[in-house]
Amino acid sequence: MKSLKIKEAKTIYNVHDLIRNRWSARSFSEKEISQDDLNTILEAASWAFSAMNYQPWIYYYVHKGDAEKFSKIADCLLPGNKPWAKEASVLLISVAKKNYDDGSMNRTVMHDVGAANTLLMMQATSMNIVGHPMGGFDIKKCSEILNLDNNEYEPVVIFALGYLDEPEKLAEPFKTRELTERTRKSISDFAFPVK
Ligand SMILES: Cc1cc2nc3c(=O)[nH]c(=O)nc-3n(C[C@H](O)[C@H](O)[C@H](O)COP(=O)(O)O)c2cc1C
Repeated sequence: MKSLKIKEAKTIYNVHDLIRNRWSARSFSEKEISQDDLNTILEAASWAFSAMNYQPWIYYYVHKGDAEKFSKIADCLLPGNKPWAKEASVLLISVAKKNYDDGSMNRTVMHDVGAANTLLMMQATSMNIVGHPMGGFDIKKCSEILNLDNNEYEPVVIFALGYLDEPEKLAEPFKTRELTERTRKSISDFAFPVK
């Protein structure tokens, strides 16, 4: 049994393990995510809060076994992402529905999609599934494949999802990135008492 390094967040306070153990991995094993497990992850996303409970998120997914469609989506990824993300078990495209049914703009759409994406990753982490969100992809190409009108729907990120493998199998510069410690601003840099 291989011992794989989880890039656990080093926190000052007693932050929940699920949050500490989520990180954006790049090294994926051959093990496939079952449809049931993917459904569990998607259902977790659906329980996010959203303005007026409008749930302005849509997900499209493709398993690696569906080789032709998988490589079409992988081909949308930019060169800094494709080499490792094409080894994922599932590519999951997170899409924002930009307007309400009456055509007015949903001002908080990205907030709500981000909330759903976060729950999705929390659930995945609890199942030992790692994921990496990527904004680096060709939005136009991806929209064409999914037949999305960008006035109404915007692909936000593509997630590479899978089970973790050893960092050593990655080529540089990805191997170094996989091994580099994660860092964050301190609370005093981003949170302030109201004066
Ligand atoms: C909206 C968004 C877009 C991102 N795009 C990319 C990307 O294109 N390529 C990549 O390697 N990482 C991408 N990331 C991952 C971030 O670099 C990563 O979340 C950040 O460095 C913090 O690391 P952690 O997720 O391991 O805590 C993206 C993350 C988000 C939320």
